[in-house]
Amino acid sequence: MSILVAKHLKKYYGEGETLVKALDDVSLQVERGEFVSIIGTSGSGKSTLLHMLGGLDNPTSGKVIIDDKDISGLKGDKLCIFRRRKIGFIFQSFNLVPSISVYDNITLPIRLDGKKVDKAFVKNVIDTLGLENKLDTIPAKLSGGQQQRVAIARALASKPAIILADEPTGNLDSKTSLDVLGLLGTTGKKFNQTIVMITHNDEIAQMADRTIRIEDGHIV
Ligand SMILES: Nc1ncnc2c1ncn2[C@@H]1O[C@H](COP(=O)(O)OP(=O)(O)O)[C@@H](O)[C@H]1O
Ligand SMILES: [Mg+2]
Repeated sequence: MSILVAKHLKKYYGEGETLVKALDDVSLQVERGEFVSIIGTSGSGKSTLLHMLGGLDNPTSGKVIIDDKDISGLKGDKLCIFRRRKIGFIFQSFNLVPSISVYDNITLPIRLDGKKVDKAFVKNVIDTLGLENKLDTIPAKLSGGQQQRVAIARALASKPAIILADEPTGNLDSKTSLDVLGLLGTTGKKFNQTIVMITHNDEIAQMADRTIRIEDGHIV
């Protein structure tokens, strides 16, 4: 059964002469445990699609169904809680909380949900990402690549059913990129997680089970 379904998604910005059809009738299905990459050039609509799939923004029309639930029917706190339980996001801009430590950032979604941190699992994630010496540091003291690794650790820590990642290796060197993708792939299979990863890099896209190509707001 598909865990993630998008039906006829459209997202239009602006109007008249400034109308941008960021997504123009995108439909897709992702199976539980599948690792899908979305590839396309800059401005093709990748981030917009990921935001719609994760319920971070409303489509102009169409719907997104996660685990049999039409998320357009969820509002406010309900949407927020549903998202936190089901989805781990890795944003292009990291979105770390600046005032708290790396460790607290990584475990924040788990604690917000009132769940217990699986310390052994989180340690494994931290070690794989090479963050063991940075746990007490605040994000501003880290490089871009290190902040990206914290964002990845945070998304993995709660073992969400779905991981949505926007260029998760965009700021990493090629060795770290491969390590991170290896980790995503391994934990994904181990916990039967569904991963949707945006990239503009063909080589990285190939590491997924399936690649979806997007151009000008369409799947091609
Ligand atoms: N908030 C917004 N307001 C207006 N236009 C937007 C907005 N977000 C994205 N766009 C436009 O939508 C198109 C797709 O953007 P985006 O999804 O960010 O592409 P990608 O992630 O593939 O680079 C681009 O033309 C972009 O300029
Ligand atoms: Mg983008």
